[in-house]
Amino acid sequence: MKTILDFHEKKIKNQKISMITCYDYTFARILSQSNIDCLLVGDSLAMTMHGHKTTLNASVNMMALHTAAVVRGAGDKFVIGDLPFMSYRKGLTANMNYVEKIMKAGAHAVKLEGAAGNIELVRHLVDSGVPVMGHLGLTPQSVNQLGGFKVQGRDEKAQKKIKEQALQLQDAGAFSIVLECVPSKLAKEITASLEVPTIGIGAGPDCDGQVLVLQDMLGMNEGFKPKFLKTYFNGFETLKDVFNDYHQEVTTGAFPTEKESYS
Ligand code: KIV
Ligand code: NA
Repeated sequence: MKTILDFHEKKIKNQKISMITCYDYTFARILSQSNIDCLLVGDSLAMTMHGHKTTLNASVNMMALHTAAVVRGAGDKFVIGDLPFMSYRKGLTANMNYVEKIMKAGAHAVKLEGAAGNIELVRHLVDSGVPVMGHLGLTPQSVNQLGGFKVQGRDEKAQKKIKEQALQLQDAGAFSIVLECVPSKLAKEITASLEVPTIGIGAGPDCDGQVLVLQDMLGMNEGFKPKFLKTYFNGFETLKDVFNDYHQEVTTGAFPTEKESYS
């Protein structure tokens, strides 16, 4: 997928959209030659790349730096950059300056969390030529307000609110909406109610697409086993074994040999 028009087309043709997070040049190069539809430079990089406990520590500078690195390796893949915690709640001029940094780092679109207080900004960004992806349900930047990383939209009132917010984001011009950790039934209803595609994570099989955090799906995030996650590689153990093989060969003198040496 190369533009937001492809998101629209996929929804019309009933074709699922695959999205994965990416934070660096090396993985972007691999992904650029894969069939994955689009890359998200998620603010989850605060956790995966920088070791913080939540995404609150992601800054605009971090997002711009990682976005630029990803874009250098991403070829013609569509790249979405997250707007980090607080960066879109500071008034229009400051918000726009931050968005400008992410877009000039090479993102093709930005993503922001929640609808309350963001609708006017989404409209303004879209009118300014910046495609916006929404994000509803479990919005990790609000982890302290939500009281933890919990499934959202459990009761009817919360479900009604999320449904309304999805429509508000669509009306404001969002080209797609991430639904994170909501019951499958709610995600299905929202997906059916929207013209723009939904991208699920912990939102069941009926969204228009799916996103996973790269380190999580590669099994590199040791001990992280939420219900929604499927791992496609035993990254942590496999890589640990590889490093141990290298250590073994270095310490026993098996590497390097003549073969890897200059005469
Ligand atoms: O930052 C992130 O990785 C995300 C996805 C999980 C949707 O926002
Ligand atoms: Na994010």
